[in-house]
Amino acid sequence: MAQATVAGPPPMTRREFLFYIWGASMLLSLGGATGAILWFAYPRFREGEFGGDFPIAVADLPPVGAPPEDNPAGRLRLVRTDEGLIAIYKVCTHLGCLYSWVPANGRFECPCHGSKFEVTGEYIEGPAPRNLDRFIVRTFDANGNLLTETITGDPNSDPAAGSPVEVPDDAVEIRVATGQRVDGASVS
Ligand code: FES
Repeated sequence: MAQATVAGPPPMTRREFLFYIWGASMLLSLGGATGAILWFAYPRFREGEFGGDFPIAVADLPPVGAPPEDNPAGRLRLVRTDEGLIAIYKVCTHLGCLYSWVPANGRFECPCHGSKFEVTGEYIEGPAPRNLDRFIVRTFDANGNLLTETITGDPNSDPAAGSPVEVPDDAVEIRVATGQRVDGASVS
């Protein structure tokens, strides 16, 4: 007895093949566009990670005149003066060594080539070409409203750029933006 044959699916036509190729390419480009949007929409650095924001309670800030407070994760030192708060980048402006706070001398000293800086990061001596760099500091009240922030710009043409940020009485939190820096003013 002859065996019954089962008909398979009809072969794909050229038109169907081109349609599937077109659909696949559309999905790929849509996925790429979505990925690009997400890439730009979300912060590259998380909070508390160098490059991102470091939130610090005002109650935890060093008092005025205290030695610089080290924040290793943020690669910064917090300094509070009568004028306000500054967050100094821990990298020397000469060739990128990590300088130290020397309590006996009351200044920062770089072990690599001997540059020295005031507690506020101003250049004293050595081969460093500029003052120490500062991160942007912002202060916020209990409702999350921005109160004060570091003035950005070029301190060589605007002496207010990077100057200490006032911490108002109603501020409860500061945030140091380690992804935003004001370069120190050049030394003449
Ligand atoms: S890297 Fe600091 S003085 Fe050269």
